[in-house]
Amino acid sequence: MLGNFQYYNPTKLYFGKDALEGLGIELSRYGKNVLLVYGGGSVKKNGIYDKVVKILKQHGKTVFEDGGVMPNPTVEKVREGCERARNAHADLILAVGGGSVCDYAKAVSVSEHCKEDFWQKYFIDFDEPTCEIVPVGCVLTMVGTGSEMNGGSVITNHGQKLKIGHVFGDSVFPKFSVLNPEFTYTVPRYQMISGIYDIMSHILEQYFSGTDDNTSDYIMEGLLRSLIHSAEIAVKNPEDYEARSNIMWIATWALNTLVAKGKTTDWMVHMLGQAVAAHTDATHGMTLAAVSLPYYRHILPYGVQKFARYAVNVWGVCAEGKTEEQTALEGLAAMEEWMKKIGLVMNLKELGANKEMLDGIVKSTVVMTGGYKVLSAQEIYGILEKSL
Ligand code: NZQ
Ligand code: ZN
Repeated sequence: MLGNFQYYNPTKLYFGKDALEGLGIELSRYGKNVLLVYGGGSVKKNGIYDKVVKILKQHGKTVFEDGGVMPNPTVEKVREGCERARNAHADLILAVGGGSVCDYAKAVSVSEHCKEDFWQKYFIDFDEPTCEIVPVGCVLTMVGTGSEMNGGSVITNHGQKLKIGHVFGDSVFPKFSVLNPEFTYTVPRYQMISGIYDIMSHILEQYFSGTDDNTSDYIMEGLLRSLIHSAEIAVKNPEDYEARSNIMWIATWALNTLVAKGKTTDWMVHMLGQAVAAHTDATHGMTLAAVSLPYYRHILPYGVQKFARYAVNVWGVCAEGKTEEQTALEGLAAMEEWMKKIGLVMNLKELGANKEMLDGIVKSTVVMTGGYKVLSAQEIYGILEKSL
């Protein structure tokens, strides 16, 4: 049964080949000073930076730069960004990049005017912002996280060996996001595939929880089927507009809060993946891919009905003459085959983890309680060992 909820998503989206025109429309709503945030340089190579700066200049903006945001953005980088934003008296933070750049922009937006230590306040104590929040806009160049239409911000503290996400409320969502699927054509294959699995994982984290009959689960089955289909096309031909645009749109819907409304959710795969990344700095979607199947096979007995439904409705497994468990296992086997086919990393060793790290990774893992089984430290160790 659907629980009680409020639904409001304040992010305005501009989608399609002409989406960047939306940036010009939106800029008129903000003051003169724009902090332009981007990553390690891909936007300069592929020309997106030049297009954005041209529009900013045409609208009379003073542009302050904050480049070099790394994948898995760090606490230190956020501190530096706050300094830059303060010096710029930023009226708008414009993130041009993937999830890391968008997440970082949100972290700066809530920390620039924060009098307390932002890491402690938001990422350890999970407090909500009490200071002024600088508006954020996004021009998305890499698809997967859903950061373009949610309040999530994931920051890494290497010193503390923690990678933590805070899901902020709607005041921190981007005010607008520009989604042009063509901007994703230059994303390297490894990152594209990683992003595709991140999308799948977001959906599964919300699907594998609860035993009720819930509209969200039907929506998610549809999103998954479309993702599986489009991913196979995009892997063969990264410039297939139809497939890339479908994937971009699915990513947004996978994590713009809609499908989670009124239902319980899990998020344990993300907690495992984030703990792995805190020790290895590995690519987000790949950490999820490496731990997912050992985790799902471990919890399958506790949620066998849902896993069987997943097998039939998403992977087309025929349930006739089989037990629920057999059907469920066949679904996971089909998922594994697809994961290998599109080229995902299926083990943690390939991501730089080793047996000696496992105790530390267990300690860095936050345990969630919304899934089919609340894991003990020993179970987490076992899942990680199987994922190696
Ligand atoms: O840094 P540059 O040079 O721009 O290169 C990036 C980066 O190396 C490159 N790239 C992006 N767009 C490109 C491109 N290269 C060529 N052409 C383009 N058009 O791709 C690499 C990865 O970028 P990144 O932003 O790190 O990837 P992603 O979008 O997967 O973001 C990952 C981060 O988001 C967090 C992850 O934990 C990770 O820190 N997440 C955020 C969430 C949220 N806000 O709700 C939820 C997710 O579960 C996730 O945790
Ligand atoms: Zn994710």
